[in-house]
Amino acid sequence: MYNRMTRFLILTLILFSAVSISVKAQLIKPVYLDETRPVEERVKNALSLMTLEEKVALCHAQSKFSSKGVARLGIPEVWMSDGPHGVRAEILWDSWGYAQWTNDSCTAFPALTCLAATWNPEMSAIYGKAVGEEARYRNKTVLLGPGVNIYRTPMNGRNFEYMGEDPYLASVMVVPYIQEVQKNGVAACVKHFALNNQENWRGHINVELSDRALREIYLPAFKAAVTEGKVWSVMGSYNQFRGEYCCHNDLLLNKILKGEWKFDGTVITDWGGAHETKQAALNGLDIEMGTGTDGMTRSLKNAYDNYYLALPFLDELKKGSIPESVVNDKASRVLRMIFRTTMNSKRPYGSLATPEHAQVARKIAEDGIVLLKNDGSILPLDASKLNKIAVIGENATRKMSEGGGSSELKPRVEISPLKALQSKYGSKITYARGYASGPPAYGRAIPSKLNADSLRNEAVKIAESADMVIFVGGLNKNHNQDCEGGDRKSYNLPFGQDKLISEILKVNKNIVVVLVSGNAVAMPWVDKVPAIVQAWHLGSEAGNAITSVLSGEVNPSGKLPFTFPKQLSDCGAHSFDKLCFPGDSIREVYKEDILVGYRWYDTKAIPVQFHFGFGLSYTTFTLSKPTTDKTDYAKTETVKMTFSVQNTGKVAGSEVAQIYITQENAPIMRPAKELKGFKKILLKAGVKKSVTIPVKVQDMAYWDEKTSNWKVDPGKYTLSLGTSAGDIQYLGSVQVK
Ligand code: BGC
Repeated sequence: MYNRMTRFLILTLILFSAVSISVKAQLIKPVYLDETRPVEERVKNALSLMTLEEKVALCHAQSKFSSKGVARLGIPEVWMSDGPHGVRAEILWDSWGYAQWTNDSCTAFPALTCLAATWNPEMSAIYGKAVGEEARYRNKTVLLGPGVNIYRTPMNGRNFEYMGEDPYLASVMVVPYIQEVQKNGVAACVKHFALNNQENWRGHINVELSDRALREIYLPAFKAAVTEGKVWSVMGSYNQFRGEYCCHNDLLLNKILKGEWKFDGTVITDWGGAHETKQAALNGLDIEMGTGTDGMTRSLKNAYDNYYLALPFLDELKKGSIPESVVNDKASRVLRMIFRTTMNSKRPYGSLATPEHAQVARKIAEDGIVLLKNDGSILPLDASKLNKIAVIGENATRKMSEGGGSSELKPRVEISPLKALQSKYGSKITYARGYASGPPAYGRAIPSKLNADSLRNEAVKIAESADMVIFVGGLNKNHNQDCEGGDRKSYNLPFGQDKLISEILKVNKNIVVVLVSGNAVAMPWVDKVPAIVQAWHLGSEAGNAITSVLSGEVNPSGKLPFTFPKQLSDCGAHSFDKLCFPGDSIREVYKEDILVGYRWYDTKAIPVQFHFGFGLSYTTFTLSKPTTDKTDYAKTETVKMTFSVQNTGKVAGSEVAQIYITQENAPIMRPAKELKGFKKILLKAGVKKSVTIPVKVQDMAYWDEKTSNWKVDPGKYTLSLGTSAGDIQYLGSVQVK
């Protein structure tokens, strides 16, 4: 009918409209991809496009360290990595083995105990920024850290990964870390929520404690992470609390975390922390990881499909026994986290193992090392008077980034104390190992085959002919030391170190004991050695940082984030029966209640070896009598305490002024004192500076079990100003109306 020309024109028209429709379709972005839209709108839109199966797939692992995205919609997978001291080397898809990549070496930052020992939120910020950049470079969605479980006993094998015994200190320190990590478009994952205060029986022990202890001691740092740090994910802990596993615990996750604190991120299990589908679904868990726990390799069927929050969850949803709103909430949380991280096109690119990051690691390490004892005869080292320095101890050469469990790292460099001392003091240094611990091995301690007597004799021999001895010992990352999966067996130093130190003392009294550990230890030799340095696990720059402090290039300014009791039985958790610690394998009852750390020692007037907040300097400081801006305060107000700090010595240095509060004539038991404010002040020699520390009246509250709420009683409160829990220099008081 039509002639050729008309046919050609019609065809061209059809073709043109088809192409233009498709181009238009491509130009209109779906709402969830439109970054100019509010995140909540995007979450809703993405959710509306997903099948039930796709939603369920967001809620459980697809490999050892990842969970699915929605490939069909271009929504990426979630990739997680430990955490918290650096970005862990890549793990195999289906098992705990390392993938042996050659491009995943990182910076090892100091352990979180060291960070807490800086008492310096600025250090926490540079830490978070740098580790966040490394996580971003490695393209992680989630960095599994920081950890803020409270230091309840020196026996906990994992204390080194946490921020000490005080809820206020841990709360202040955790926030900048999280904020800075997340500026990189990587979610921090604060862990382990909650009450994972020991490793022994961590997989099931049922912790019982009062609401008051829960609220005043064990939860505040998590609360700060959520409400101030705005953390995007939280990891549940392995243990149970009041008969429910913490990874699906209605009170902790639904009521407190998501209800009271309005947490809008994801709750991720600890690896293998989920135990049942309905509870996992209904009691607040969002992403199930590690069940099995070796992924596909140990089961015939696809193990990931058999996760509690996988096919069994889908079945329940399809049956209607779990409402779809439940999976919608979980999927929304995962989507929100993805939009905040990997789908944020503005997230920076990150960087890995750079010289800048090494500098950050060193700075934090130098800021956190604590000088515990110094009679002035030996530190800082005066090289001009020393011809021969004997360095003794396995920790002078041992790689501390190896072992320790999930926080193990593969750093590009790790400078040992011996190496750094050798580069500073050259041929003056001689070295003997002195003792041997055995190789790092997860879940078991393998004793060394070396002969202890010959190692000790060799060390004593080099000590005898040296001008001084630098003993570098402590704990290490082996099982039953500073290591996940087990607790310490003894409060004393392991591997015969006490004996070794006392043998060295017989031939040479000029000894500095450098303790590499994340835990307090017994010190039977404390009165006999002239100097002790608490050096933590310092990561890549360990040796350099220790050497700067020993040499005096850096004036130490770290302060203990936990008490060193004289003996283990002095500690609150060890003052009752076995049920109080370590539990009877089923239950554990925190009988010391709110009296954790210095709250226990000070209230019970128990003398300690080194106080919470304690640390010496190569200079001296004086604090002046403080004044407060008023005498009477309303409950919503903040007390401003002002005083001056002067550096009265000959070198620049930093002091940490600390304010503790005590409620006078309290109607209920309250600790002798509680930290509620602090500030680290750097001063040049001779310089004096005025300092104001705010203390919120609300922070003086206790948890009132009658009303299940915080309560500030009206009345008199003492504010103590000092430089440690054991060195209170001034008392002031205020009235709360
Ligand atoms: C640890 C977590 C860690 C996870 C993944 C668990 O055993 O308790 O802290 O993030 O493993 O490695």
